[in-house]
Amino acid sequence: MPPANWLQKSAEEIIPEFPLALEYCRFADLQLRECVGAQELYSDYLYVTPNSTTLNAHYQHLIEHMLRQGYMDESTRALEIGSNRGAFLEALRPHVTSILGVDAAANICQMAEKGGIPTICGFFSVDMAQGLIGGGRPALVIARHCLAHNEDPHVMLAGISECIDPNGVLLIENNYAVDMIANNEFDQIYHEHMFYFTLHSLQRLVHRHGLRIIDAFVSAIHGGSIVCFVSPVGSKHAVQPVVVQHLAREEGFLSEKRLHAFVDEMRRIRHDLLKLLNGIRSAGKQIMNYGATAKSATLMNFVGLTRREITACADSTLVKQGRFLPKSGIPVISEEQAFAESPDYFLLTAWNYKDELIRKVRDSGLQSVRFILPIPKVTVL
Ligand code: TYD
Repeated sequence: MPPANWLQKSAEEIIPEFPLALEYCRFADLQLRECVGAQELYSDYLYVTPNSTTLNAHYQHLIEHMLRQGYMDESTRALEIGSNRGAFLEALRPHVTSILGVDAAANICQMAEKGGIPTICGFFSVDMAQGLIGGGRPALVIARHCLAHNEDPHVMLAGISECIDPNGVLLIENNYAVDMIANNEFDQIYHEHMFYFTLHSLQRLVHRHGLRIIDAFVSAIHGGSIVCFVSPVGSKHAVQPVVVQHLAREEGFLSEKRLHAFVDEMRRIRHDLLKLLNGIRSAGKQIMNYGATAKSATLMNFVGLTRREITACADSTLVKQGRFLPKSGIPVISEEQAFAESPDYFLLTAWNYKDELIRKVRDSGLQSVRFILPIPKVTVL
């Protein structure tokens, strides 16, 4: 597969491809067998956190939870790793004393700075952490959807444990392997997602850095994410009973039988989606997809979809527009342009924003366009 966010600059450009193989490991649960270097993946990056009512509601939910549980207050220094354009830090700003972002992508850091979010450009490490301590130890560190995006998550965790306040809290949020498998979300598998954690594997990982999980819940965001709160061993925060309950619920989930069934479901989705789209096309109808997501690269290329089946992809991200989805070569256009062309169907490749996207299409005046959900099974809405 080509790396999912390496969108082509022209319809003909050939993007390099790398093996994409998921394997089971008793320590880490699911992980990629081979990783593409982080430097290559993130130095010029096209993923910009979208403006989204779903995301904003999620941010508020996280903030309310942390205030209620006493994980932050107005004296807290907040540090976010993988902060992208700073959307979460912006939401956090009124509740804490200071915010600071760290992101590896230079083009994204510039965007954040322009938006007034102080951001350090680089990969978080012990060295960077030591440089930050002089300005005061952060009592809240946030690592949303970035811990699994590196070949060696120990580098990030060693840096965090170096600088975090002894009574501080680390918020980790990541795609949740249990929901991915249970909901047939094989499109979550792409080169940026190098690990697929459960609470068990996260616990084993943080233990190695003198940290422990004190609280956790599963959120529906991004198709099912594990949100966990971690604190240095010996901190004032007690381990909530929910952690033990959650670990017990996970026990035995990732069985060999279940992983084989997941592969069968992937094949079924490929078969059903091809059949459906070919049928629609034969009837002379137009299909676009909605969301130039990383997920869409895996879906399109695993199913074998091209411009023959799908004429264009709608996406709100300015830097993605005018590009082409990797390998399938489907052109990315703005939502406005897509709505103006009024396709008969939208394949929802950003299915994690399903309700929000359907509302947007309907609000634009398109009442008859239909929607295709690829997972958990192919469904026409
Ligand atoms: P996301 O699901 O976060 O992505 P990934 O699979 O890459 O991790 O990406 C959502 C994509 O959908 C992103 O490219 C922006 C796009 N989008 C829209 O086009 N309109 C919208 O209203 C929203 C919320 C997202």
